[in-house]
Amino acid sequence: MSELQKNAIRVLNNNWKDSFSIPCANLYPFQWFWDSGLIAIGFAHFDMRKAEREVETLLDSQWGNGFIPHIIFHTESDSYFPGPDFHRSDLHPESSKKYKSTGMTQPPVTGFVLEELYRIGIDKKATLRFLETVIDKVYFNHEYFYKNRDPQNEGLVYIYHNWESGTDNSPIWDDIWDTMNPPEYTFERRDTTHVDATQRPSKREYDHYLYIIDIAKEHNYSDAKIAELSPFLVQDPLFNAMLIKSNESLIALYKLIGGNEGKVAQLQKWQDKSKATFNKKLYDEELGVYVHYDLRNEKPLRYISSSSFSPLYANIPSEDKAASLVKVMMEKFGNEHQYLCASFDPTSERFNPKKYWRGPVWVNLNWMLFNGLKQYGFDDIAERVKQDTIEILDKNGFYEYFDSRKDMHKDGKAGYGGNNFSWSAALLIDLLKR
Ligand code: DGY
Repeated sequence: MSELQKNAIRVLNNNWKDSFSIPCANLYPFQWFWDSGLIAIGFAHFDMRKAEREVETLLDSQWGNGFIPHIIFHTESDSYFPGPDFHRSDLHPESSKKYKSTGMTQPPVTGFVLEELYRIGIDKKATLRFLETVIDKVYFNHEYFYKNRDPQNEGLVYIYHNWESGTDNSPIWDDIWDTMNPPEYTFERRDTTHVDATQRPSKREYDHYLYIIDIAKEHNYSDAKIAELSPFLVQDPLFNAMLIKSNESLIALYKLIGGNEGKVAQLQKWQDKSKATFNKKLYDEELGVYVHYDLRNEKPLRYISSSSFSPLYANIPSEDKAASLVKVMMEKFGNEHQYLCASFDPTSERFNPKKYWRGPVWVNLNWMLFNGLKQYGFDDIAERVKQDTIEILDKNGFYEYFDSRKDMHKDGKAGYGGNNFSWSAALLIDLLKR
């Protein structure tokens, strides 16, 4: 086993907290939804029981309406803001009585994570037995999304907060901040005591983040009220691609398990409608990629980001559209001076290669792109994404995100944000086996 792989295993074991993992110490000291799912993929390669526990604990936080929160506050910690006292999940009548959490969610990765556990598992029968015990909770979560997050009944679900997107401070959200004028909050940031402030969102951006939560809290996190009133209401291609990929995985797994014809038929219905609207509404012919749609202001947000390419992973584009995505990706993001794949268009004036989701390379998006490119037969480019990912981790360590400019990597200091970051380690372990 290589040193890199041993180090990755060490990172995961250090971030394991008995029944779940933290993304990294200090900066993110609780369980996060999409982190948790992606972390389970790494554990599955060397400790299937931990992978299963990770998923079980995440699903245990599910609310009475099927919702799964983005952060589950299992423990006390004053190294993070905003904590449970700000989020107040107890305001929602169906929130978990067992765990404090946020009142927002994150990209629904759980369905495809279950299928990954099955792919990786050596004892397939045992893994399938485990999947049978949890799969209905994931189905219930999808039902929550389609029932509560699709006000125009289009097959596309909305997110109401940038933290739901996972791509927290993408330059795409700047357009939405321009429509808002939140109050100036007084609060103590904790993230910037752990990480260089130039790599994190600004104070003014945080005012917007907190204000959207306050509006939701005023209405006890009612989905209907949020759909009516939230200044942030977006159909996000990454988020919807994750849901569609997870639908596909649930269908495959229910078929393996047998029975459940009603659920398979319902999933297929959601799937067909979602894919059709996704291609019609989110594909921008002129840009040749998928873009976000601002549902509050009824207009597309015409920017190219790594999320624009993520539908490859969910088998959404036709062959022609896939070819267009890859062309744009290679022209704008993939010249010889750049590692694949920057999180935002490197040719845009909003690009910032050091700042959180405004430009750096992220391992989770690279992992999805690797899989998506393979599915469409772009094997050489998939291989480049894989090798780029291994190289940046090898040079810099298991950081949260990385500079996309190759010449910044000479002294091994091009890793930014949190260090010893779980999903960077977890997905490296998976990529090394592929
Ligand atoms: C943060 O605090 O930046 C988190 O990513 C929110 O999910």
